[in-house]
Amino acid sequence: MNVIWARSAAILISLVVASAGIYFLAGPVPALALMCVSLLGLLAYYLYQIDRLWKVLDAPAYGEIPSALGLWGEVYYRLHRLVKRWRTQVLQVEQQHTRFIQAIQASPNGVLMLDDADQIEWCNDVAEQHFGLSARRDVRQRITHLIRRPEFVHYLTRQRFDDPLLMRDMGEHKHSVIAVQILPYGDNRKLVITQDITKLENTEAMRRDFVANVSHELKTPLTVLTGFLETVRDLPVSEEDRKRYLDMMLVQSMRMQSIVEDLLALAKLESDAQPPGQELVYVPALMAHLVHDAEALSQERHHIATEVDPSVGLRGSESELLSALGNLVSNAVRYTPAGGRITIRLSWEDGHAVFAVADTGLGIAAEHIPRLTERFYRVDRSRSRDTGGTGLGLAIVKHVLSRHHADLRVTSEVGRGSVFRIIFPLDRSVRQPVEAAMGGTAMPLPLDPSKRAA
Ligand SMILES: Nc1ncnc2c1ncn2[C@@H]1O[C@H](COP(=O)(O)OP(=O)(O)O)[C@@H](O)[C@H]1O
Ligand SMILES: [Mg+2]
Repeated sequence: MNVIWARSAAILISLVVASAGIYFLAGPVPALALMCVSLLGLLAYYLYQIDRLWKVLDAPAYGEIPSALGLWGEVYYRLHRLVKRWRTQVLQVEQQHTRFIQAIQASPNGVLMLDDADQIEWCNDVAEQHFGLSARRDVRQRITHLIRRPEFVHYLTRQRFDDPLLMRDMGEHKHSVIAVQILPYGDNRKLVITQDITKLENTEAMRRDFVANVSHELKTPLTVLTGFLETVRDLPVSEEDRKRYLDMMLVQSMRMQSIVEDLLALAKLESDAQPPGQELVYVPALMAHLVHDAEALSQERHHIATEVDPSVGLRGSESELLSALGNLVSNAVRYTPAGGRITIRLSWEDGHAVFAVADTGLGIAAEHIPRLTERFYRVDRSRSRDTGGTGLGLAIVKHVLSRHHADLRVTSEVGRGSVFRIIFPLDRSVRQPVEAAMGGTAMPLPLDPSKRAA
């Protein structure tokens, strides 16, 4: 017997007992009257409680379950328990849902859900950006009404989703490339995943350009070389001409050799995932080497000066740094007309070791400066070629510096000269005791005139 029956029985039994008492004391009429009045009172009380319950069920609000004594107290207590349990469950589901949404929002990819009529059910912020949609405004809209690009409509309606669709210049971003992949799920629903592959596409375009550039750079000397070879083979040439042709062929093959060497140096730098070590570079030997090379290249046509603070020490790869600094020095010599001045400087700036090469040469117009470190980028193609340049020197410099976490800063004025500065990070700038730096015999460095890192 449950609590309701037990309590109801208790109430009725006490009523019957009380009525029986009255019956023996005062006769049947008062007993019947007590019975009727009590039952009517009980009925009124029950109706009142049913009304309260009705109102609660009509507009349930957590924490507003009424309380009462006795039987109705039991009913309300159970109702309260039920509401509490459901509320906990709803909160748990809500939390899960929020976490799920947060996880999808954290994804770098766009996620968009379509119902069986291709209407937007939900999308994350990234998908909003990629498609230029608004999750609030556009929900329940047919996607093809919002994204009207024919290629997208075709992709959606064709119902073959093996490969992603590439869409260019989407949303607010011009020159962007978005890969769109549709994944059917559930009962005729679709999940649309979008990924920004602009960088990937740009890298691919750069790779294609690079291959085209390399081929072009090698083709020119090769064509010249082939021409001379055919001439020497097919035509009767004098001994003097033959020697001249051979000299010119040698120049072309040396040019190809420099290009290939620079390409190999770049490839080596790129493929080396290990950062350069933290070994101390023997700066006096490095400087001596740079000056020696600059003088050899200049052949006394320039005034070459050094301003080296002997307390500056560097940590890093000696061969890579020699290659990078050497490239800057050789550029200064090659792009400065005879009579100009070249200054090689090593100093402190705010605790950073700074290497600088200043020249009084041709200078570079501002619009070229940001592009100088691109492979094969030259301001003046013929001057670069005539002085033995490959257009890869500053690309090598950039790589070496990024491996050393150093910065390249270029200031230049056309007709007045340029300054190329390398700012080394604090952990690679070392303050040396001056005597140690000044004394000591120059460490033998590989005196390779091409100054390649390879
Ligand atoms: N000191 C400089 N003065 C003027 N122009 C320079 C200087 N250094 C570099 N440049 C310009 O930057 C271009 C790229 O340099 P780099 O990558 O070393 O190739 P290159 O083999 O042509 O020297 C050069 O072709 C030149 O136009
Ligand atoms: Mg160069």
